[in-house]
Amino acid sequence: MTDTPYKLDLAHRPRRNRRTDWARRLVQETALTVNDLIWPVFIIDGENSRQKVPSMSGVERLSIDQLVIEARAAAELGIPALALFPNTDPALRDEAGTQAFNPDNLVCRAVRALKQHVPQIGVITDVALDPYTSHGQDGLMRGDEIVNDESVAALVKQSLNQARAGADVIAPSDMMDGRIGEIRRALDAAGFEHVQIMSYAAKYASAFYGPFREAVGSGGFLRGDKRTYQMDPHNSDEAIREVALDLEEGADMVMVKPGLPYLDIVHRVKREFGVPTYAYQVSGEYAMIMAAASNGWIDGDKAMIESLIAFKRAGADGILTYFAPAVAKKLAKSV
Ligand code: PBG
Repeated sequence: MTDTPYKLDLAHRPRRNRRTDWARRLVQETALTVNDLIWPVFIIDGENSRQKVPSMSGVERLSIDQLVIEARAAAELGIPALALFPNTDPALRDEAGTQAFNPDNLVCRAVRALKQHVPQIGVITDVALDPYTSHGQDGLMRGDEIVNDESVAALVKQSLNQARAGADVIAPSDMMDGRIGEIRRALDAAGFEHVQIMSYAAKYASAFYGPFREAVGSGGFLRGDKRTYQMDPHNSDEAIREVALDLEEGADMVMVKPGLPYLDIVHRVKREFGVPTYAYQVSGEYAMIMAAASNGWIDGDKAMIESLIAFKRAGADGILTYFAPAVAKKLAKSV
């Protein structure tokens, strides 16, 4: 009697479905695939040039020729799209962000090279003035203020410039009011009605952008902060309103940013609107995983995959992530 194992009379044993690998696969609710990945890439002038970004181990700024090589590899792995972020020569930055409108700026040259050499990958360009302004703000400054309407006019010009270069998706990350509608109208009027808009609809004023600002070289310049246009991390209903407005104005896809700390927002947005919804696993999130991994505190590969699965579970249709090439390689091996 004493050696009869203790046994509960249970109606439910959820562990049954977890006993074997095949059963675990069978009950799996979400999947991460290469089709979920958008790769953000930092670009620089020059040739045959690669610069490590110190705060983002494994990430390099690439000259256009190197970008083409990496984009081809990414396309071969099945990554659907990449997002370009320029590191502009400080000598070319000014109060008005003039370089943003130059048809031969770094981003436009990169877009043309990609469309010529790797036409099968989608090219997303960032619309905001911060890589080009001497003050590091996403819009124009009048005194201490980042003015809205004049900034929108500048962002429209920047969008047209990128569309003319051949960008597939215009991605405004600036958070000015009304810019999606203005950009949509201007694109349509110029014959770019096929160009998509991915709106950074709910973008928060976040501490997790630090390494990105180092990567594009805007951090050192930044005067003030971005709290008069990027959202307050305390707010959630406001994100829903921002997304609703951008959709009304013509956004094809919406994004929530940062990623993991804002999964509740991703979930709400997907639930309430049922539109293509993306999340940006930003530079600080990437840096934290890489730093902990390099100290041996977490398994970097597993944390990378688990973090991306979390986005899918929350309802994201895709993730902008600096891990994209590494994940794509890992997924290719596991098939
Ligand atoms: C700026 C922009 C930022 C990021 C993308 N576009 C930084 C900011 O708003 O200051 C952050 C991306 C990242 O941290 O990976 N328009």
